[in-house]
Amino acid sequence: MAKNKTKIMLTGDRPTGRLHIGHYVGSLRQRVEIQNSGEYDEVFVMIADAQALTDNFDNPDKVRESVMQVAMDYLSVGLEPGKTHMFIQSEIPQLHELTVYYMNLVTVSRVQRNPTVKSEIKMRGFEGESVPVGFFTYPISQASDITAFKATIVPVGEDQEPMLEQCREIVRSFNRLYNCDVLVEPEIYLPPNEACLRLPGTDGQAKMSKSLGNTIYLSDDEATLKKKVMSMFTDPGHLRIEDPGKIEGNTVFTYLDAFCQPDSFEKYLPEYKDLDELKAHYQRGGLGDVKVKKFLFAVLNDFLTPIREKRAYYEAHPEEVIAALTEGTAAARAKAEQTLAEVKHAMKIDYFESWAEEYK
Ligand code: TRP
Repeated sequence: MAKNKTKIMLTGDRPTGRLHIGHYVGSLRQRVEIQNSGEYDEVFVMIADAQALTDNFDNPDKVRESVMQVAMDYLSVGLEPGKTHMFIQSEIPQLHELTVYYMNLVTVSRVQRNPTVKSEIKMRGFEGESVPVGFFTYPISQASDITAFKATIVPVGEDQEPMLEQCREIVRSFNRLYNCDVLVEPEIYLPPNEACLRLPGTDGQAKMSKSLGNTIYLSDDEATLKKKVMSMFTDPGHLRIEDPGKIEGNTVFTYLDAFCQPDSFEKYLPEYKDLDELKAHYQRGGLGDVKVKKFLFAVLNDFLTPIREKRAYYEAHPEEVIAALTEGTAAARAKAEQTLAEVKHAMKIDYFESWAEEYK
């Protein structure tokens, strides 16, 4: 069988709010790198509004507003129209068509075993079998999102690994059942280190979430950023400057692991060579939280400044955001249409295309 050497990236986000710096280190940074590497034949980034509606169907305003916010976040961090196709999931009806066919290949017990679905059902408090069918089946719809574009690589957080595994199973079942190689197995693309993999909230909780109020948004202004950083969780046992402090579980240092740049020390803290030296001093004692926080603020502010500038531009030029989504959505639709045609051919339901030949 011919090996598919094409390299295609696809990933997406649920539009349920603005994106934060956890999204950035967890996936956005990887996407921009892939986009700029020039090694990929096609790059797709999807605003998963249909998936967001599976547990926000009663809040269409939130989803609608977030679609525009997320598109602005994409453009602000450096995803570029012309290099990346940014599109809106619900505008691609082929995705839903694929889902219907894939549903035949997945059992209820298989979805129930999906750890991400399991924990989300619990988190949302769906009792017993009261989980909406649309929500329950979203892993199957996510397999459509990925396979419609024949994605070879999917940059996401590790919580999405069960989705990728389920997708690969669907790909294998489909290709085996219909004796074809239409669908492509995707690989997950994880962030480079532990801090980026699981960036905690500013309060030290495991995850950033809007409801916990422990989030730093990509769109936060300087004053907001300063307030959030200066009130961050550190080591509760580090009371006096001269006390030895802990690095482990110290959110300020976790953020530095994720955001510190090679030139950050030279610029803002030249008395230290690098992060290891700063950590060693903190552990020894004699280094106060305020000094480390001020440094982190400078590092994060350097990171967010160009993002804020780009955002301001796009806020003043919404027509360019719409143009980017329009182009991306058209390209995505063309690609999904092509894959759907191949899927239908493999399933022998491409009647009008094949009858003409058959009954000539
Ligand atoms: N489930 C993803 C999330 O919450 C969003 C998503 C939908 C996605 N479809 C996708 C991610 C396809 C990668 C590929 O964050």
